[in-house]
Amino acid sequence: MVSPELAIIPRHVAIIMDGNGRWANKRGLPRTIGHSKGVEAVRETVKAAADAGVEYLTLFAFSSENWSRPETEVNDLLGLLRKFIRRDLAELHRENVRIRIIGEREKLRSDILPLLLEAEETTRHNTSLTLVIAFNYGSRDEIVRAAAKLAREVQAGRLSPDDITAQMISGELDTADIPDPDLIIRTSGEERLSNFLLWQAAYSELLFMPDYWPDFDRNLFFDALKVFASRDRRFGGLSSKTAAVGG
Ligand code: IPE
Ligand code: IPE
Ligand code: MG
Repeated sequence: MVSPELAIIPRHVAIIMDGNGRWANKRGLPRTIGHSKGVEAVRETVKAAADAGVEYLTLFAFSSENWSRPETEVNDLLGLLRKFIRRDLAELHRENVRIRIIGEREKLRSDILPLLLEAEETTRHNTSLTLVIAFNYGSRDEIVRAAAKLAREVQAGRLSPDDITAQMISGELDTADIPDPDLIIRTSGEERLSNFLLWQAAYSELLFMPDYWPDFDRNLFFDALKVFASRDRRFGGLSSKTAAVGG
């Protein structure tokens, strides 16, 4: 199933799916066509990740800043997410995929929130790939919500500020029970995180690929895994090779 050169499989891959608009522009098509082609790339990537043995795949679907796009585009994107969940939920469930949603839920419209909750609920006990959908997600907003929760604990006298640890902050984020991403991929040639998993990315390997998201496929996903396998992760220490030579 997995070739030997992919021996080091990242446990968690997170993807900033970027470039739908430019993919469409290049072809003289409306941006919305780029977004619908992007959904096909999502389907293929989910399958590839499951086949590779990746445990967690996080996809940045809609950022808390994407509301600033024209209303028609926002509606297209929300419509596509709704359609994806309606159409694909049964198959994802059959394939034993567990769905998790991260992002701010409080103010979400009533035509989207129940669908997201249903997707999580239906697949809660599945044991294959965990597909984390970052929707209405912004990392700073997530950290602010976590800080407010801890502040309320302090205010209630249940917690001393001196006892706050990095682990406690991690534990209040939307990703509380999800390991940090080992690999973060961004397509479209842009080289920035755009408010995605800032806390969790502390030691993630970053990979910026030139391809627009609608062109992303199984082969590109496996290419990314190969690059990851060749990286030397140090976590502030010494590389295993250096440590072996230096004693
Ligand atoms: C990614 O493609 C989709 C979302 C951000 C929701 P874009 O729509 O950002 O495409 P570009 O960056 O304009 O090409
Ligand atoms: C990041 O892409 C958000 C998603 C992929 C959902 P953007 O296209 O919104 O990011 P910027 O604006 O180029 O930084
Ligand atoms: Mg973009």
